[in-house]
Amino acid sequence: MERETIEAERLEIHDLALSLARQAGEIQRDRYETRLDVDTKSASIDLVTEVDRECEAAIVAGIERARPADAILAEEGGGRERRDATWRWIIDPLDGTTNYAHGFPRFCVSIGVERCGQRAVAVVYDPLLDELFHAIEGNGAWLGERRLAVSSRDDLGQALLATGFAYDVHRSREDNLESFARMLKSARGVRRDGSAALDLCYVAAGRLDGYWELKLHAWDVAAGILLVEEAGGCVSGITGGPPPSNGSDVVASNGRLHEAMLANLAS
Ligand code: IPD
Ligand code: CA
Ligand code: CA
Repeated sequence: MERETIEAERLEIHDLALSLARQAGEIQRDRYETRLDVDTKSASIDLVTEVDRECEAAIVAGIERARPADAILAEEGGGRERRDATWRWIIDPLDGTTNYAHGFPRFCVSIGVERCGQRAVAVVYDPLLDELFHAIEGNGAWLGERRLAVSSRDDLGQALLATGFAYDVHRSREDNLESFARMLKSARGVRRDGSAALDLCYVAAGRLDGYWELKLHAWDVAAGILLVEEAGGCVSGITGGPPPSNGSDVVASNGRLHEAMLANLAS
């Protein structure tokens, strides 16, 4: 396919992703701190609300209207996979559901799009702060109209990091607690704010110097990984290779701290 055609399509997809993220974010803002139907999924602490589902339905309907040939992987199961599709949307309609259900103001919409399996477009929208993070592969990471760059800190002792814990934390031994304790004693601070997609955006924006987590899913990281890379940061798996696209483990940093983080996580 012609380069110009691919470029035009990436721009079209980027615009569509921006508009769908805003649309879902508006639903989240309208329903925030209202009475919600809440169900559980894989564990009693793994929640899904009617807003997760409404946001997903709105995003999927928008993609199907505009781009019926694209594949869609969406967390709540509303997508449709197509093996032969060139473009694949990976959607977390509401990242930070526990926060949302408790009225804790940290959650977002995350939309990543791949072309032939390569990360191409990323959009993450925080509706309460009205912050729209976005990237097209090769064109930098942006917060609205401001270009983002990772931090330059190179001393783990001065770094502000973030992590998270999987929903099987009550029953699994692979619970990230030892790593958390070790990092806490090495870094300036470690946050657990409950939205993996925003954690990655904050690394891209230089608000965090690094972030790691285990047992995530493709939709948690699809957009955030591209944003960190486009902001000049480094993203790997926990043992240092490329980050698994299924989100099973991710380490993101400003690059300068990467080796120190990997060494700390390995010890
Ligand atoms: C969760 C959040 C959280 C992370 C969990 C994720 P959800 O996503 O990103 O920060 O620690 O592992 O599952 O369920 O709110 O979309
Ligand atoms: Ca998520
Ligand atoms: Ca979610």
